Amino acid sequence: MNPENLLLEVHDQVALIRLHRPKALNALNDALMDELGQALALYEADDAIGCIVLTGSEKAFAAGADIAAMATKDYMQAYREDFITRNWERMRSMRKPVIAAVAGYALGGGCELAMMCDFIIAADDARFGQPEIRIGIIPGAGGTQRLPRAVGKSKAMDLALTGRMMDAAEAERAGLVSRVVPAARLLDEALEAARAICAFPRQTVMLTKDCVNRAFEVPLADGLMYERRVFHSLFGTHDQREGMAAFLEKRSPKFENR
Ligand code: CAA
Repeated sequence: MNPENLLLEVHDQVALIRLHRPKALNALNDALMDELGQALALYEADDAIGCIVLTGSEKAFAAGADIAAMATKDYMQAYREDFITRNWERMRSMRKPVIAAVAGYALGGGCELAMMCDFIIAADDARFGQPEIRIGIIPGAGGTQRLPRAVGKSKAMDLALTGRMMDAAEAERAGLVSRVVPAARLLDEALEAARAICAFPRQTVMLTKDCVNRAFEVPLADGLMYERRVFHSLFGTHDQREGMAAFLEKRSPKFENR
């Protein structure tokens, strides 16, 4: 891949994807989202990669969908091209974990993209919001659905109806982000978290993600049953034997992803 709107790096088993449209604060247009979809597919298929970190620049994770690119769309065009579906939905089907490392603005589609990731680590200067109402539309990439699940109805309504931004401290209090770190430490912290995840058995990591995501889709009893079945299935793995034996023998485990 030779993307124009992304910077790609690999750090051991961690793929780092940087959104890179500096002139437009990483506004998400089709070209960028096509490339992001391709990069995600590439890393999903690459056995050498265990976890992905998605980040932006110091100033912006992403300032939203590209307003210039959609300003003249009409209803039929948006509907017929299935706007913000084809290339935006790739993230949802990722089985490997994706961590969003957010500095600066994460607004509109930028906030929505961060929420599609498995968890968000925020720099202390990060600012989140769903300001779409200010330009006459609503959040269209999951903001009205994922934000209330993350922060509750009252704050989601407040953000989506007033279009105001919230800072990193408020986002952490509200449960949108898992941790806030000094801006200068953001990438180190995200890469460290990703490396820690890569040290665990790949199948256990993927099934953990699968089970937590299930909690948002099904009634509690069904989710608990799903979790129990997955839990049982891991007793069929080498890495369960190895992990528990290593604990009892007071040594580090040697996981083999099987
Ligand atoms: N789309 C296209 N271009 C954008 C953009 C966006 N979402 N956000 C910023 N830019 C561009 C600006 O037009 C500007 O370009 P020029 O230099 O060519 O004029 C450049 O990025 C820098 O932006 P500003 O000069 O505005 O920078 P600032 O520091 O003064 O303000 C900001 C930063 C508060 C983030 C402001 O840029 C802003 O409000 N951006 C729009 C945020 C927004 O409304 N996002 C929601 C988009 S709709 C959406 O996302 C729909 C959905 O749900 C999928």
